[in-house]
Amino acid sequence: MIKFRPRRLRLNENLRAMIRETNLSVKDLIYPLFVVAGENVREEIPSMPDCYHLSVDNAVELAKKISALGIPAVEIFGLPEYKDEIGSSAWDMKSPVQRAIAAIKKAVPELVIVGDVCLCQYTSHGHCGKLCGHYVDNDETLKLLQKVAVSQADAGADIIAPSDMMDGRVAAIRDALDVKNFSNVSIMSYAVKYASAYYGPFRDAADSAPQFGDRKQYQMDFANSREALKEVELDLDEGADIIMIKPALAYLDIVSKVREKINRPVAVYNVSGEYAMVKAAAANGWIDYKRIVIENLTAMKRAGADIIITYHAPDFARF
Ligand code: PBG
Ligand code: ZN
Repeated sequence: MIKFRPRRLRLNENLRAMIRETNLSVKDLIYPLFVVAGENVREEIPSMPDCYHLSVDNAVELAKKISALGIPAVEIFGLPEYKDEIGSSAWDMKSPVQRAIAAIKKAVPELVIVGDVCLCQYTSHGHCGKLCGHYVDNDETLKLLQKVAVSQADAGADIIAPSDMMDGRVAAIRDALDVKNFSNVSIMSYAVKYASAYYGPFRDAADSAPQFGDRKQYQMDFANSREALKEVELDLDEGADIIMIKPALAYLDIVSKVREKINRPVAVYNVSGEYAMVKAAAANGWIDYKRIVIENLTAMKRAGADIIITYHAPDFARF
């Protein structure tokens, strides 16, 4: 005799739904947008099918659609009109990011706006901070990140998401925001960001590849997991409201460990390379796109993510 039969509760979809442990919702998702200068620009990003470079006017139109689909938040990335050694276009209120944040806030006030804070899209050398020789100077970079964060809060961002991986940046940004009376602006820190080949398509999309070397002096070594817990501890201590882990799929062990350790919301970034692989395989007819997307996003949630930043968000919402 078989004493217990797990298959009994798998007999039909209603039974399965009753005992389902993880329920993925469109409300868990954040959709990234890439804004550029100009008007009426809508150019598909070759390595990220169905993702576009949008001028501010078109970004607003898309933001309205995203909100209508029930997606609660967008994260804004920008391609500036000029680059220099220190990335000063990153805090220029006339840059596409600041203008897009303000315009979207005005058009769709209920949509949560996340501003990505980094310098790599804005520096001529493509590194995430101010250089001293070939080294990214940590403490000098903090001063610049403070300016970027304040400029985005000023434009209307609800959440600031620093993705640079400098030490002490959460405290520095929290400080700068509070001084300028943005104490209600949250910080979602890219606390655990690995030096990953999965960012390849994004760097084409954001024109942010480093001009020499790599980012291994600031992003984490993917062989490490205890170090991830230390990064999380530091960022929470410095005042992060939400902790992010990036990339997602190859790092679900980290998500699960962080989830067990902390009592704050956990986010994952389902990055460009993960998206591109799924899109490419689907375009070849090798996988079932819809089923794979639901399976991947559910796995991220099952591992412990409350929030998923994903380029699949509109597709998922339409399913
Ligand atoms: C840069 C940044 C990266 C991503 C977002 N902001 C990674 C990098 O170039 O190091 C990656 C996002 C993606 O791949 O979807 N600070
Ligand atoms: Zn960067």
